Parts: sequence; C-alpha cells; structure tokens
Amino acid sequence: MTTASHNESAVGGTAEARHRVIAIDGPAASGKSTVARRVAESLGFLYVNSGAMYRAITWQALDQGADCSDRDAVLALLESTEFTCEESDGAGVIGLNGAVAGDEVHGAEVNANVSRIAAYPEVRDRIFEVLQAFPKKADVVMEGRDIGSVVFPDTPYKFYIDASPEIREARRRAQGLEDSIADRDRQDSTRKAAPLMIADDAEVIDSSHLGVDDVVTAVRERLAAKGVDEAKSV
Ligand code: DC
Repeated sequence: MTTASHNESAVGGTAEARHRVIAIDGPAASGKSTVARRVAESLGFLYVNSGAMYRAITWQALDQGADCSDRDAVLALLESTEFTCEESDGAGVIGLNGAVAGDEVHGAEVNANVSRIAAYPEVRDRIFEVLQAFPKKADVVMEGRDIGSVVFPDTPYKFYIDASPEIREARRRAQGLEDSIADRDRQDSTRKAAPLMIADDAEVIDSSHLGVDDVVTAVRERLAAKGVDEAKSV
C-alpha cells in the first residue's frame, strides 16, 4: 500500500446533484476493466473499479493475518479501518486508513479469497457508501458486478460485458495470472448479497470474439445515442 497524501479530498464533495454514472458490470475477465478505463478516458470521466476495492480489503485482511472465512475477524478489521475516497492516476479508489493499494491486489492469494470477502453484507455496505460518493463530485464510469443492479439502479447508462468461460480463463492465463474463474463465477453469482446479475435495462455486449477497440466503440455508440458523447474534464 502507498500513502495517499496528494489528494485526500479528491472525491466526495458536498454537491447534492449527482453527476452521470456509466455502469459497466460483468463477470471476471470479461474485459470490462480495460473497456471501462478506455471509455472513461475518452469521455473525460473518472474511472472507478469497484472490484479493486473488494480486492484492497481482501489484501489488507491477508496482510494482517486474518482468516477470510472468519466473519468476526473480517468485521473486526472493518471496524478498525477508516474508508475514504481518493483519486490516483485518474481513477477513483478506496483509501484504507489513508493508504491506497497497488498491484499487490491482483495476486493469486487475493484472487482466491476476494469472492468470500465480497459476500459479507457488511463489507458491501461499506464499499457501497464509498461508491455512492464518487458521482457527487464527477461524472464516472464505474465497473463491477452490481453497479447497474444495486449501487446505481436508476442510471440510464448500463452495460453488461460478457464472454464465454473458456475465453475468460484463457485471457487470465495469457496475463500470467492465477485465477479460478469458474470458482469466482459461482461465488459471485450465488451469494445472497447483491449477486452478479444482468440488470433488466442493461445493454449486453458479448466480447468473446471482439477486440477491445470494438467493445469500446460499441459502448460509445450506445452512449452517443443517449446523448453522452462529449469529452468533458473532471
Ligand atoms: O472485477 P474483479 O474481478 O477485480 O472483482 C474482484 C471480486 O470482487 C469479484 O470476484 C467479486 C467482487 N466484486 C463484487 O462483489 N462487486 C463488485 N461491484 C465488484 C467486485
């Protein structure tokens, strides 16, 4: 983790009006992170990766030697953690006691435990509050599992990026990352609290046989049809 000293109050302003939220949900390794970042950059919106927040909490729990399947231990950790909204490298991120996580959150141990941590309703509640704060300050592209279904169900801009399990497994292998996609799919889809689902009004894009540029173009075209096509500074 690194100390977030440069922008303590980057996000979470007091403005009552909410800025626009483009929700991009989908299963692990569907390509949604790359697409979401590219769409955010092209529109000048803030990019928010909610999965990275669940990963940061998981990493913190592992770093402190907590057993991720021990709910009480995880809740004790939550109690002793101050959660803040930060901005780092053009992205909205979570601060845990003033520090933001780095690449360590993509390690095999975090992959193996993050779905368990993300299933605790108390963890989801804390992250929900952090996610809700970002569009008080800026237009955002936010990616995750439940952004269009639970976090911002009233946004008119919802996408669900999918790809076949085989293709998603192959993408992770090509990245050299150890990640049991099938396990995470099962845990993310069957948990009680805010499971992975396709919101009724989401535009579904199957990226199995599409390149990143194609998916970004498809998203931008659908957004343009809804009047979201200007580059706007945040
Ligand atoms: O997008 P990702 O694979 O980095 O997400 C890591 C985990 O976090 C994922 O397995 C489930 C959880 N997650 C979630 O429950 N809700 C979200 N909005 C985003 C991620």
